[in-house]
Amino acid sequence: MAGAGEKVDYVFKVVLIGDSAVGKSQILARFARNEFSLDSKATIGVEFQTRTLVIDHRSVKAQIWDTAGQERYRAVTSAYYRGALGALLVYDITRRQSFDHIPRWLDELRAHADKNIVIMLVGNKSDLEEQRAVSTEDAKEFAEKENLFFLETSALQATNVEGAFQTVLTEIF
Ligand code: GTP
Ligand code: MG
Repeated sequence: MAGAGEKVDYVFKVVLIGDSAVGKSQILARFARNEFSLDSKATIGVEFQTRTLVIDHRSVKAQIWDTAGQERYRAVTSAYYRGALGALLVYDITRRQSFDHIPRWLDELRAHADKNIVIMLVGNKSDLEEQRAVSTEDAKEFAEKENLFFLETSALQATNVEGAFQTVLTEIF
């Protein structure tokens, strides 16, 4: 909600998708409130949070939507993607399966979202380097092939979370 005197020039909807437990909700908590929790509960249904930032001297309200990675808890797909201008497609660098599922998430995204949607592939949990199961090179190669932006993040250490959203929002802008 815009406070008194706060002027919003644009509202951009961005969606978070990816397998359960990759860290979508904690990436959002870090971006929206600069918070992080290690005992984060699985998301049920859909939630969103907003943060207003300045891009090119304009006030942009980012409305970030977060749903469950688990099929049985997911929000209605078409409603979730409706009007989204950006997406963060998240996997966990320590869980190979979460990366192997990225093509499926991308298919769903491309089937339901606007064709000009800006997509960022995000390899989260970069703080767990010793447990890495997906190389940066593999992910970079996939991202280039599919025309996606790519960054590795750590919601825990607050690494690149700001950068991931900034890139998507600036590109939408
Ligand atoms: P669903 O809601 O089920 O789809 O899961 P999610 O993708 O929202 O995952 P969530 O944000 O709830 O995080 C799952 C677990 O990973 C929690 O224990 C988090 O604390 C942990 N986690 C999230 N991000 C990071 C990170 O950057 N580093 C580490 N080490 N743990 C993280
Ligand atoms: Mg969640």
